[in-house]
Amino acid sequence: MKVIIRDNAKDAALWVAHRIAGAINAKAKVSKKPFVLGLPTGSTPEAVYAELARMNKAGEVSFKNVVTFNMDEYVGLPVEHPESYHSFMFRNLFDHVDIPRENIHILDGNAPDLAAECASYEEKIVAAGGFDLFFGGIGEDGHIAFNEPFSSLQSRTRVVTLTDDTIRVNSRFFGGDVNLVPKQAMSVGVATVLSAAEVIILALGPKKARAIGEAIEGPITHKNTVSSLQNHPDGIVVVDEEAAGELKLNSYKYFKAVEAAEMR
Ligand code: PGA
Repeated sequence: MKVIIRDNAKDAALWVAHRIAGAINAKAKVSKKPFVLGLPTGSTPEAVYAELARMNKAGEVSFKNVVTFNMDEYVGLPVEHPESYHSFMFRNLFDHVDIPRENIHILDGNAPDLAAECASYEEKIVAAGGFDLFFGGIGEDGHIAFNEPFSSLQSRTRVVTLTDDTIRVNSRFFGGDVNLVPKQAMSVGVATVLSAAEVIILALGPKKARAIGEAIEGPITHKNTVSSLQNHPDGIVVVDEEAAGELKLNSYKYFKAVEAAEMR
């Protein structure tokens, strides 16, 4: 696992945006096949999406041959609700870049048969060629997508029940009222994320420090599903100084030294 530590949230987000754009551009140079990208919602990716939108407008990256799959969506929330992940993605990214509408995939949390919707999502990912890159965040409890503690590390896309902790954390998007937060969601599984050729996790701020410390230095465990990245051949965790706050000093110095050596 690689760990990239930046002084502040802005620089960490810029690193991720430039890495994603660089990967899209690199594939476009050698292949006509679409670049298949997994994407998160939440506060963490906002600055990444703003930079990708800026780069798209500046002609530095195109999304015309990018196919996206979002990692999750609430069950039962109308698509047009401002806090649906559909709304979030169009507001923060898709309305600002040149991606064709048919290249965008987001789970339908109002599908009549949720299990069938999940199975067909996995099929569409395979049909698209599999993920080139999966970009995600981390929950305060170490979740990746909505793979809460005790999710199987072999899990695939399915309906999940949110923990009280996640409902409390996400209530900030629903006027602070936990009763307005949907209790269930649909989420890609841990194995779905790990199937990507490259996985990038971005974590910002002190509230993520404990989960990041455990994911990087602790054992691989279903109690912190991001820890499964330790088994991925090309996993990168990008953090600001605050999210790095619970790393042991020696690990912190090691990751800084590795990055410095690779830049030489
Ligand atoms: P956040 O959510 O970016 O809003 O902190 C991350 C997550 O829960 O995975």
